[in-house]
Amino acid sequence: MNQGVIIRPETEKDYAKITQVNDLAFGQKNEGLLVEKLRQTENYIPKLSLVAELNKEVIGHILFYPVTVHSCGSTYSTLSLGPMAVIPAYQRKGVGRQLVFEGLEAAKALGHESVIVIGHPDYYPRFGFRLASKWDIQSPFEVPVEVFLALELVEGALRGKRGTVEYPKEFEEAI
Ligand SMILES: CC(C)(COP(=O)(O)OP(=O)(O)OC[C@H]1O[C@@H](n2cnc3c(N)ncnc32)[C@H](O)[C@@H]1OP(=O)(O)O)[C@@H](O)C(=O)NCCC(=O)NCCS
Repeated sequence: MNQGVIIRPETEKDYAKITQVNDLAFGQKNEGLLVEKLRQTENYIPKLSLVAELNKEVIGHILFYPVTVHSCGSTYSTLSLGPMAVIPAYQRKGVGRQLVFEGLEAAKALGHESVIVIGHPDYYPRFGFRLASKWDIQSPFEVPVEVFLALELVEGALRGKRGTVEYPKEFEEAI
């Protein structure tokens, strides 16, 4: 269905379009602004801000951003998936699926071991995400337990990593 769609890392030329894609998909400015703010932070990973391109047009975007799991005295670095957006005219054609699959591959290739997401409980399990509570990993936000999900890119990566995730302040401001 999504023939011809390529997934690639963002370049500077894509910045405005990425904001626009987020604005259109979410119907508000919060997520586009969040991506712009995160891009200014030192932890931002340009190779994990991916666009879906069709006929040279950016029609989708996904971001993976590093966050920290804090447990008693120790910390563990993981990736947070989101925001993720596909412009309405191209939704439900598998573009989102392609962004997630190829994004997870890119993350793994860069040596990342796990990913967490606050997202729809019917959508993310198809990529292997499970309840983060399975590993006793908690969100700092008051969200239902079934929307806080995690995925091991490397088997066993989350074993013993229980704790609470700390997001950068930009995420809190966007909520
Ligand atoms: C969520 C989103 C990125 C998915 O992209 P997409 O290209 O439509 O996704 P796909 O075609 O790969 O998959 C479609 C599936 O996603 C599900 N889906 C789409 N939007 C959804 C949503 N907001 N909540 C839950 N499920 C959703 C559909 O049920 C569909 O499942 P099905 O194939 O079993 O019917 C896109 O719909 C979007 O931009 N939505 C608005 C922004 C948003 O909610 N982003 C996610 C939170 S960060």
